[in-house]
Amino acid sequence: MNSVLFVCLGNICRSPLAEGVFRAVLAGQGKDLAIDSAGTGGWHAGEEPDRRSIAVAAKHGVDISGQRARKLRPEDFSRFDLILGMDRANVRDLKALAPQAARDRIHLYLDFATGKAVDVPDPYYDGAEAFASVYRMIREASEALAKRLEASVSPASGQASSTM
Ligand code: 4NP
Repeated sequence: MNSVLFVCLGNICRSPLAEGVFRAVLAGQGKDLAIDSAGTGGWHAGEEPDRRSIAVAAKHGVDISGQRARKLRPEDFSRFDLILGMDRANVRDLKALAPQAARDRIHLYLDFATGKAVDVPDPYYDGAEAFASVYRMIREASEALAKRLEASVSPASGQASSTM
């Protein structure tokens, strides 16, 4: 297990938070994995994360302002060992786009991380409280995901020591 891709719709609200918070959790544990995020849609490609995501991350000491949105690419399905969609629509879109061989690497993020089969809801049209709630879900899931992957990630090397 060397690489994780977080996917949402626009890659400006949820998946950049999932990327940044998971990177911070791993760094705190001295672990190294290739982490990235992408959107199934490309409307915001090249943009910074949504200012509300930047703000809620900053409030918790995580700087995601240097990340830039990008659209999911076909090669992502071969580059990443684990592909986590933020909600069921993302997972459905990912499975429809993925080659057959990659489909079992695609999971609903919270289900894979915590065993709770619930969506991280899209906060784009909501207010700061929705972003705070998304942040809490992502923080809890990031810690659970780090634990779940612990057995398959060697300390600080990023090398797989076994399969998932
Ligand atoms: P995200 O939120 O998928 O969490 O990045 C959205 C951002 C933008 C749009 C939709 C959702 N949009 O329609 O532009």
